[in-house]
Amino acid sequence: MLKTKDILDEKDKRLRMTSKEVSFPLTKKDIDLINTMIKYLHDSQIEDIAEKYDLRPGMGMSAIQLGVPKRYFVVVNEIDEGEFETYVLINPKIISNSVEKIYVEMGEGCLSVNRPVEGIVPRYARVTMEAYDMEGRKVHIRAREELAICFQHELDHLNGILFFDHIDKKDPFKGKDQYRAI
Ligand code: CO
Repeated sequence: MLKTKDILDEKDKRLRMTSKEVSFPLTKKDIDLINTMIKYLHDSQIEDIAEKYDLRPGMGMSAIQLGVPKRYFVVVNEIDEGEFETYVLINPKIISNSVEKIYVEMGEGCLSVNRPVEGIVPRYARVTMEAYDMEGRKVHIRAREELAICFQHELDHLNGILFFDHIDKKDPFKGKDQYRAI
């Protein structure tokens, strides 16, 4: 079982690597890793389990956060109380995006960043992702609001970018009126 301490911390240089494209079929190792990531994200969002195993809640995780520099990430989105939607995006890219940008008013979080970080991270309000599923089929996924932010956050991980890189150091709330808060 994956524990929170197994997730790389922001100081780890590996988080700055550019992850490599994945070829199909996936190896057993990759399939196992993806399933481990899904389980962690799911369990971490269920209070009893999270508490019992001391899991930090998160809705997204990229392979590089476990030290594997491959281009895939997993998102487990709670759409209703105890009801989850799981996304596995392999070799993902954004093929279209809204002009409108939004940001998380409370500040973005990351399983690799164990401190509160203030500031605005502008993200597209809507994106269409192209990616491959675990069977190697090409998929298109449209996302908006929180899910769209999550996809952009995870895609950044594959390029060695952490969310706070987008925050203006001198003026963390720069652009506040330009973007919509969610
Ligand atoms: Co993150």
